[in-house]
Amino acid sequence: MEYRILGTTGEKISEVGLGAWQFSESWGMLDYENAKKIISSAMVNGVNFIDTAIAYGWGKSEEFIGKSLKELGARDNFMIATKIPGEFLAEHDVILATLGSLRRLQTDHIDLMQIHWPPVWNNIPTCEYMRALEKLVSMGLIDYIGVSNFPPILLDEANSCLSREEIVSEQVRYNLIEREAEKEIIPYTLEAGMNLIAWSPLAKGALSGKYNLENLPKFTDVRAGEPTFIPQNFKEILPVIEKLKEIASKYSKTPAQVALNWLLTSYDNVIVIPGAKSPEQVAENSGASGWSLSFEDWVALDSLSKKVTIHRSLKAI
Ligand SMILES: NC(=O)c1ccc[n+]([C@@H]2O[C@H](COP(=O)([O-])OP(=O)(O)OC[C@H]3O[C@@H](n4cnc5c(N)ncnc54)[C@H](OP(=O)(O)O)[C@@H]3O)[C@@H](O)[C@H]2O)c1
Repeated sequence: MEYRILGTTGEKISEVGLGAWQFSESWGMLDYENAKKIISSAMVNGVNFIDTAIAYGWGKSEEFIGKSLKELGARDNFMIATKIPGEFLAEHDVILATLGSLRRLQTDHIDLMQIHWPPVWNNIPTCEYMRALEKLVSMGLIDYIGVSNFPPILLDEANSCLSREEIVSEQVRYNLIEREAEKEIIPYTLEAGMNLIAWSPLAKGALSGKYNLENLPKFTDVRAGEPTFIPQNFKEILPVIEKLKEIASKYSKTPAQVALNWLLTSYDNVIVIPGAKSPEQVAENSGASGWSLSFEDWVALDSLSKKVTIHRSLKAI
């Protein structure tokens, strides 16, 4: 496993982290013992960064992580990143939400506290929640501040509210077939010395190579209705999947490992946080680190993926 530095903090985080949204009804992985094995596999494979959120099973994911780390005696092996939903951003809610996360995670500090999405429904001023986070840092309850799904203009505003801390990371959707982050957000994070934490780095499993048009499941989980898996869209990404398979066999890797490696090779501030439903998937995903695609293979995937258009409006048609 290779490690990158979290923002300007000097902290080393594994370039492949573990996404823990899977421990929730949304993904249907509610078996605690399996969650503990997943976390244990992450530790054995050098992963030291777990991403969760209050919204993942409304506390379930945090509870599973807290209990697992306690039973494994592994709290110090991981940096825990959690998130406060955009609905809980009034100052009093930020404080209360953090205390709830600390309790469920069974820890006295959260390494990275992120705003999950901007407060689109409640009209909370940006400086109210950013300063509340800064207060939590000075109280020693959180170590670092991050945001998620913030456009650059709001990142600017959020940063301008802070006087002692800085935003160390931005977490957004980023994978080989959904590359909008490259337009504005990645350049912003590079300029600001922040990490770009890529969510859905496997396009929710679409880039693992195990799905095709003939066996496209009728998902009953969070993927039901996901635009990527609508056949008209999925057809678009088949050439990318075929190329991932071809490159994977050349390097004795898997398509998922190649898809993740492509992101890591693209920008040196990127951290990927694939979600996993089994210890085997964690082990496989961690094997995306420690090697690099050749320039030629990187370009081949780059060119094919640029031809993909995911039509999100198909959902409504
Ligand atoms: N900040 C945000 O707004 C936001 C939004 C979404 C996600 N996230 C974070 O990002 C993490 C990852 O995103 P995600 O879960 O949406 O999508 P993802 O990581 O792209 O895909 C995860 C799914 O892919 C499949 N998979 C994983 N590894 C595999 C492997 N090696 N081989 C084959 N299949 C594999 C598994 O599902 P199957 O086996 O069932 O196919 C797994 O549930 C989440 O856990 C969460 O922490 C954040």
